[in-house]
Amino acid sequence: MALQDRVATALAEVADPAGGGDVMASGRVSGLVVKPDGAVGLVLAVDGLDRAAAERLQAATEVAVNRVAGPKAARIILTADRGSVAADARPAQSTIPGIRKLIAVASGKGGVGKSTVSVNLAVALARQGYAVGLLDADIYGPSVPTLLGIEGRAALEGNRLQPALAHGLKALSMGMMTDPGKAIIWRGPMASSALVQMVEQCDWGVLDVLVIDMPPGTGDVQLTMAQKLKPDGAVVVSTPQDLALIDARRAVAMFGEVGVKVLGLIENMSGYACPECGAVSHPFGQGGAEAEAAAIGAPFLGRVPLDMGIRSDSDAGQPGRGVAAEAFLPIALRLARETGL
Ligand SMILES: Nc1ncnc2c1ncn2[C@@H]1O[C@H](COP(=O)(O)OP(=O)(O)OP(=O)(O)O)[C@@H](O)[C@H]1O
Ligand SMILES: [Mg+2]
Repeated sequence: MALQDRVATALAEVADPAGGGDVMASGRVSGLVVKPDGAVGLVLAVDGLDRAAAERLQAATEVAVNRVAGPKAARIILTADRGSVAADARPAQSTIPGIRKLIAVASGKGGVGKSTVSVNLAVALARQGYAVGLLDADIYGPSVPTLLGIEGRAALEGNRLQPALAHGLKALSMGMMTDPGKAIIWRGPMASSALVQMVEQCDWGVLDVLVIDMPPGTGDVQLTMAQKLKPDGAVVVSTPQDLALIDARRAVAMFGEVGVKVLGLIENMSGYACPECGAVSHPFGQGGAEAEAAAIGAPFLGRVPLDMGIRSDSDAGQPGRGVAAEAFLPIALRLARETGL
């Protein structure tokens, strides 16, 4: 196939953020040419996109072109109607090239199942055919390597970190860079800048979505992360009891402050089916997160039961089986819809 056709095929894998299929089908890309020196020129219309979306699309387009035509081949000219926000695009503080959507999974309270939810949601989305990455942003207590059964360190190519491939995902965690037995002592500003650097220097390739497993709480690290990485939205995980819900509310408020949309709430550890007799009990109450979602006007994405298999599969690095597979599929589908994936 001629280079121009191969570039067109690669671009047909880049989705139009405004819907309407890929950037070739929707007409955003025009004037595709291959110059004698191998450079690939094209015009990318970013009408109707806000600045962040326009920049991500530009980056995704560049990655797609360079993948088939060689590094630095892309020459992209951006155009937009007068009046469009993107027309006066300023350089962003931080973008991750090639990644369509960033979703942060957070909670005010620790131990409510953020990491379990992040991993199982990522696996469910990957099974739906999305290209999915998972970033473990909990640099003090990384759990993604255990949850995905990843061993060893992240490889470096040049000075770029290589994510691990596991269960159909690309994953990166501070646990792939440090000695698992050692405590990590970092002060806030250092921690957040290490994290942003880790995300930006990783070879994610082209992703439909990067799921970010956030550390617990609503402190400085979380705030800086939300501001620097500018996620497209946040999912807030809570257990049904009041104490966890108070913290969930705090997380929702934090995202509100930095202008990150809350895509929805998930109620985890909701109901326990006795493996002996099948009777369902509610050790942490029931329905609290759904009521909370209604109160703040955010979508309720669904509930995940407290299940022995989810716990043992998590420890064994085997996500997406049994009750987890059943519970997370509808939640992932709802989330994909809310996110515009
Ligand atoms: N639905 C569930 N059923 C059974 N066990 C669960 C469920 N969700 C989470 N767990 C278990 O609860 C523990 C805490 O979960 P997890 O590590 O995902 O929480 P977290 O919110 O990420 O914690 P941290 O705040 O420390 O990051 C783990 O042992 C996990 O296996
Ligand atoms: Mg966690």
